[in-house]
Amino acid sequence: MSTVLEQIEQQIARLSSKAVRKNTGVIRTVADGVAKIDGLSDVVYNEMVQFPGGAIGIALNLEQDEVGCVVLGDISKLKEGDEVQTTGKLLSIPVGKGLLGRVVDALGNPVDGKGPIASTETYPVEKIAPGIIVRKSVSQPLFTGIMAIDSMIPIGRGQRELIIGDRGTGKTTIAIDTIINQAKINKVGLASGDKNFRPVYSIYVAIGQKNSNIVRTIGALEAAGALEFTVIVAAPAADNPANQYLAPYSGAAVGEWFMENGMDALIVYDDLSKHAVAYRQISLILKRPSGREAYPGDVFYLHSRLLERAARLDGKGSLTALPIIETLAGDVSAYIPTNVISITDGQIFLETDLFNQGIRPAVSVGLSVSRVGSSAQIKATKQVGGKLKGELAQFRELAAFAQFGSDLDAKTKGQLDRGARIVELFKQPAFSPVPIEQQVVTLWAMQKGYYDDLDIKKVTAAAVSLRDFFSTRKDALLTEIRTKAALDKDLEAKIKTAVDEWKSSFAA
Ligand SMILES: Nc1ncnc2c1ncn2[C@@H]1O[C@H](COP(=O)(O)OP(=O)(O)OP(=O)(O)O)[C@@H](O)[C@H]1O
Ligand SMILES: [Mg+2]
Repeated sequence: MSTVLEQIEQQIARLSSKAVRKNTGVIRTVADGVAKIDGLSDVVYNEMVQFPGGAIGIALNLEQDEVGCVVLGDISKLKEGDEVQTTGKLLSIPVGKGLLGRVVDALGNPVDGKGPIASTETYPVEKIAPGIIVRKSVSQPLFTGIMAIDSMIPIGRGQRELIIGDRGTGKTTIAIDTIINQAKINKVGLASGDKNFRPVYSIYVAIGQKNSNIVRTIGALEAAGALEFTVIVAAPAADNPANQYLAPYSGAAVGEWFMENGMDALIVYDDLSKHAVAYRQISLILKRPSGREAYPGDVFYLHSRLLERAARLDGKGSLTALPIIETLAGDVSAYIPTNVISITDGQIFLETDLFNQGIRPAVSVGLSVSRVGSSAQIKATKQVGGKLKGELAQFRELAAFAQFGSDLDAKTKGQLDRGARIVELFKQPAFSPVPIEQQVVTLWAMQKGYYDDLDIKKVTAAAVSLRDFFSTRKDALLTEIRTKAALDKDLEAKIKTAVDEWKSSFAA
C-alpha cells in the first residue's frame, strides 16, 4: 500500500505543469470592425495585433477567455478561424517635420497622393500625459487673430481651450483662423531672423466629418499659405469607428513630438462629440456596459487622457489644444459637453442667436472664459482692452432691459451706445485673422473714442480702414508695437498722431 502511495507521490512530483504562453490566436467572431479572438494570452492592452492580409488591430478588451480587438483597415477579408499574431508593439505612427503640409490617416499613412512621408521616427499613439513636476505654467500667448478672443478670452501656449456651440455656428472657422494666424506669425518671425522666435506648428484632426468639409478646410489653409506649417490627420465619417477613435491620439502623438523636441505646437480636435460617438459604437460592439446617454463609463477618461497631453514643459516646448464640441440647442449640460468643459481650462461659447443676427464670430461674452490665458496676454492688449469684457457683458444685460422701457437716462444710453460699437468692432469675416499689433491699434482707437461720432453701422468698416491705413503707411510703428508689446507714453503719442491722420482722411 505504502509503495503505491510512494509511486503516486513520485509521479506527481515529476509532473511539470508549465504554463504555455501562446502568441498566436484564432478569430472567433468578426463583425462591425471588431474581432473577438481566442488565445493571444500574451497580448497587452493597446497592443497592435497582426491579422492575415496586412490589417492591424488594437487589443482593447482583455477578458478571461477572449480578446476583443478593433480592426483598422479592411475587415472584409477576415474570417472565422484566421490566425492572429501579437506584435509586441504598442501602436506607433510616424512623426516629425516631414509631416508638415501633409494629410494622413489615423495610422499616419499619407492620403493626399503626394507620395511617401519623409519620417524616420515613430511615436506611440497612446502615452501617459506629462506629470505635474515637469510642467510649467502658461505664460506665452497664442494669438488666434480673432479680436474678441485675443482681447477678452486670451489663450496661452500649453492651454486647453474648448470651442463649443451648436451646428454651423463657426466653430471650425475659429480654429482654422487660429492656424492661419499662427502661420502668418511664423512667416514674419522666421523672416525677422530673431533667434528667440518660436514658431507654432499646427495639427488639425478631423473626426467624423464629411470628406467635402475636410477638403474645404484644406483648401482654406492652402489659400492662406498655412498648409506648410500644418499636419492634417483625417478620419472622415466614412472611415470605420476604430480609425475615428484613434485619430485624436495620433494627432496628439504628432504634436507631442514637437513639444518633446523643444518646439511649440497647436492641435485642433474637430470634433470630440463625434469622437465620443465613435467610441460608444466600438464599446457597444465590444459589449461593454453602457452608462449615461449609452456612452461607456470610461468616456470621461477617454477625453481627459487625451487633453492632459497638452502642456507646457519645463525646458522643452508646448502643446496647446483646441478641442471642439458640438451642442444640441445650446445645451451645455449634456454628458459629453460637461465632461470636456471640466477637463479644459476654459471655453469659447458660440451662440446661435448671435450668429443669426450677423454677429460673427458669434462669441458669447457671458459664457466664455479663459482660466489661465490672461497671464499670457501681452501688456498692450490689457492696456487697451482690459475693460471690454465688462462693458460688453453690461451691454448685453442692459440691452435686454432696454427692450421694455423707452425712457432711458443719459448714462444708460451712453453704455448701450458704447456696447453696440464694441459689438460692431469685433465683427470679423472668416479666414482673416488680425495681427496683434493691429488689434492694439483698433482697440486703442475704440478706447479713445475715435469711432464715437460715426454711425454705428459704419464702425466695422472704419476699423478695417484704420487697419489698412496702418498696414500700408505705418509699418514701422506696427513693428514697434509688436516688439515692445506694451504702450508707453512715447508710443501712445505716435499712435495718436497716426490715428488722427487716418481719422481726418476717413471722415473726408
Ligand atoms: N466670422 C465669420 N464671418 C462670416 N461667416 C462665417 C464666420 N464664421 C463662420 N462663418 C460661416 O458660417 C458657416 C459655418 O461655419 P463653420 O463651418 O465654421 O461652423 P461649425 O460650427 O464648425 O459647423 P459644423 O457644426 O457644421 O461643424 C460657414 O459657411 C462659414 O463660412
Ligand atoms: Mg465644423
